Amino acid sequence: MLPGMYHLPVRPRRNRKSEGIRGLIRETSLSASHLVYPVFVQEGDEDTPIDSLPGCMRWCLHGMIDEARRLEDLGIRAIDLFAVVPEGKKSSAAEEAWNPEGIVPRTIRALKEAVPEMVIMTDVALDPFNSDGHDGIVRHSSHGKCEILNDESVEVLCRQALCHAEAGADIISPSDMMDGRIGIIRGQLDAAGFDRVSLLSYTAKYASALYGPFRGALESAPKFGDKKTYQMDPGNAREALREAELDVAEGADMLMVKPATFYLDVLAAMRVRTHLPIAAYHVSGEYLMLKAAAASGWLDEKSAALEALLSIRRAGADMILTYYAPEAARWLREEEI
Ligand code: PBG
Repeated sequence: MLPGMYHLPVRPRRNRKSEGIRGLIRETSLSASHLVYPVFVQEGDEDTPIDSLPGCMRWCLHGMIDEARRLEDLGIRAIDLFAVVPEGKKSSAAEEAWNPEGIVPRTIRALKEAVPEMVIMTDVALDPFNSDGHDGIVRHSSHGKCEILNDESVEVLCRQALCHAEAGADIISPSDMMDGRIGIIRGQLDAAGFDRVSLLSYTAKYASALYGPFRGALESAPKFGDKKTYQMDPGNAREALREAELDVAEGADMLMVKPATFYLDVLAAMRVRTHLPIAAYHVSGEYLMLKAAAASGWLDEKSAALEALLSIRRAGADMILTYYAPEAARWLREEEI
């Protein structure tokens, strides 16, 4: 009891007094059905652990199928495929990106056969296939200068997208940030009869320091320069909304913000301006920061990771691409959020 004159008619704590009440009024939910697991596939018959991403593997085709079955048992319904490409198959024109016998199309076909209910998303960008390590085609000029060509790159990205669609991908996800690629890929898919294949555009993909561990996993770091002429400047939020407008006009089915936790403001702003579903990519560096702090005993991993994922949902993401997907699905069985 406070002294008389301090009567408090409004006490927000009444709504937090028990787990039951907290559950009734919780505004944001998180479940395995919101999660997409990014996976790495490679040639050969062996699965190999990824040093730069503890807990993640480079799967061979058979290993990938077994893993997809385990994911299904955990309630995860979608995976995003990334190719690990040996140095000998990388080239400046990135031909391997649209080889119908390449690791990605072969994996799509095998997964569609073995786990037909799993949603198969694929990454469209040239960096794992490109000897330059860039998402597009590079023109080298004298004095060591280089340029990432836009329209020439879009042409190759279209071939890659068609190759994935032919193999049976459900959702194609261009992560390259070239101008105009969504509309042009959409047109080419439709013209080839793939009007049922969806496009998830990396709408606002920032030139972030947080992709380092992923580039280690794919050995796809740029050989020179950086990605600042195509990925967005971390200082900009309005520009993300402009990209969103263009993607909507070009026919994207879903938009993405990437990375996630450093860019929650962008996610929230985009949420109120579009009616399309929004994905957020909780990237390798975000995963690794939590893993490293947990390994040092500085953070409780389960609660910190679930809080990170919940914050991404609260900011406006419908789905989250995260390396935590299998662990989070296991944790969410114990905990209702
Ligand atoms: C490349 C691509 C990157 C990621 C997804 N697709 C790296 C990059 O742009 O350099 C990053 C994912 C992560 O860090 O987890 N097209």
